[in-house]
Amino acid sequence: MAGAAVAAQDAKVQRGKYLVEEVARCQECHTPRTETNDFDRTKWLKGGKLVAAPETPIRGWHQTSPDITSTSPLWQRWGEDGVAKFLETAKNPRGGGAGAPMPAYTLSADDAAAIAAYLKSLP
Ligand code: HEC
Repeated sequence: MAGAAVAAQDAKVQRGKYLVEEVARCQECHTPRTETNDFDRTKWLKGGKLVAAPETPIRGWHQTSPDITSTSPLWQRWGEDGVAKFLETAKNPRGGGAGAPMPAYTLSADDAAAIAAYLKSLP
């Protein structure tokens, strides 16, 4: 890639990182915790057990979240476009929605693409 294209891609990934970490806070559910309840930085967005559960049971509430990094089985099936579309439409490539408590994000195409680019950058 030419210099300008590389810089643009970097900016997109940085924006995706900001949206993931500071706005949507995907790590609250998709990053496992250490014994001291801190995020396990060595397993960033690698999925794990959820810490929050509803006081009254909710049907279809998941106890775990999937790995959403680029090396995950989910990523291999969905690809960058599938992940971006899901964040834009709240529908996975098979047309269904994700189960609770995964939020049904309907982000702008730009934001969804930035998040997908950031997730793609994660090993
Ligand atoms: C409140 C907890 C929570 C937050 C915040 C959250 N997720 Fe999830 N996510 C889940 C759970 C639980 C699942 C599993 C749902 C399922 O299997 O149906 C999931 C599933 C997914 C899936 C797979 C969906 C499917 O249909 O298989 C993707 C992709 C995903 N999350 C991405 C993200 C991204 C990106 C963010 C931030 C923009 C995010 N999640 C924020 C809890 C969360």
